[in-house]
Amino acid sequence: MNILVTGGAGFIGSHTVVELLEAGHNAIIIDDFRNSTPSVIDNIEKITGKRPTLYKIDCNNTTELSAVFRKEKIDGVIHFAADKAVGESVKNPLKYYKNNIGGLVSVTEVMKEHNCNTLVFSSSCTVYGNPEVVPVSESASIQPAHSPYGYTKQVCERLIQDVYTSDNSFKASILRYFNPIGAHPSGLIGELPIGTPNNLVPYITQTAIGIREELTVFGNDYNTPDGSCIRDYIHVVDLAKAHVKALEKLSHSEHILDIFNIGTGNGASVYDIIKTFEKVTDSKLNYKVGKRREGDVERVYADNKKAIQELNWKPKYTIDDALMHAWNWEQNIRK
Ligand code: UFG
Repeated sequence: MNILVTGGAGFIGSHTVVELLEAGHNAIIIDDFRNSTPSVIDNIEKITGKRPTLYKIDCNNTTELSAVFRKEKIDGVIHFAADKAVGESVKNPLKYYKNNIGGLVSVTEVMKEHNCNTLVFSSSCTVYGNPEVVPVSESASIQPAHSPYGYTKQVCERLIQDVYTSDNSFKASILRYFNPIGAHPSGLIGELPIGTPNNLVPYITQTAIGIREELTVFGNDYNTPDGSCIRDYIHVVDLAKAHVKALEKLSHSEHILDIFNIGTGNGASVYDIIKTFEKVTDSKLNYKVGKRREGDVERVYADNKKAIQELNWKPKYTIDDALMHAWNWEQNIRK
């Protein structure tokens, strides 16, 4: 299949392009590199031996997007292009409404214009808020969003449901990611946070390599076994493979709207991640305990049975693998 990947040079996008190419599909990337670099394309080619087609455009630009659809025969779209910093979304909500909601409106509009009816959308476990029951399943209720970022994911999910209801040919898969970490085992692609990282693992690797002085554990007084928050950390390559499986399922289905949790099914605390990092890298991490971070939920991890059963997918990497790969990547980019 010819798959358009918006945000295909980003962290999850680039790993998904690799998996698409390795599964025998063609990938057409659109990315404006606001949060990524063009060298990612060279590295995708180094890993796969295939060079994805690239268009440097903003997916809010429907004229340019439409031209891509006219030129390429697009069978389906994986839509990643979006902003994802929770704190920034509180300070600059319009950016999130424009890029996250506006971007999806543009992409869906142009898809309809060109009779492309297959969409895989990157959503987030943030839609569950602080879940009453863990592991959280897809049928858990959607909680009021804590941030404009989280709200844009909810609106995008609703938009997809409304388009599905209005159009008998439309097929979509909404993937609710838990916490993606790690990097490609080749060390050629990975996460490139701009400025100070918000997320735990890039903060750890940057501390270990000496860019940051110390990690702060955001709270050790939660009602969890070691007092720190619990998350479901999934290797980005496993997450990327789930997109290919979701797409392939859509290609064999008629009018359908799928929603899948993409996580490992296991919870790990902040201290678990620190200890595992120290173990796999045989080093000591400089860290201190600080205050709770506003908006953090105490524990969330996935019930991933639906994805395992219906997508013929299973996460294969461990947290040890993911942290080792993240560390290799951090060392490679600082050479
Ligand atoms: N943490 C620290 N110190 C840090 C960074 C994070 O202790 O310097 C802790 C957080 O408090 C949290 C855990 O590490 O307990 C994970 O934090 P991340 O920022 O890596 O990830 P989040 O779970 O907060 O965020 C993720 C996605 C968001 C999404 C959110 C929904 O990155 O896009 O889940 O819950 F919105």
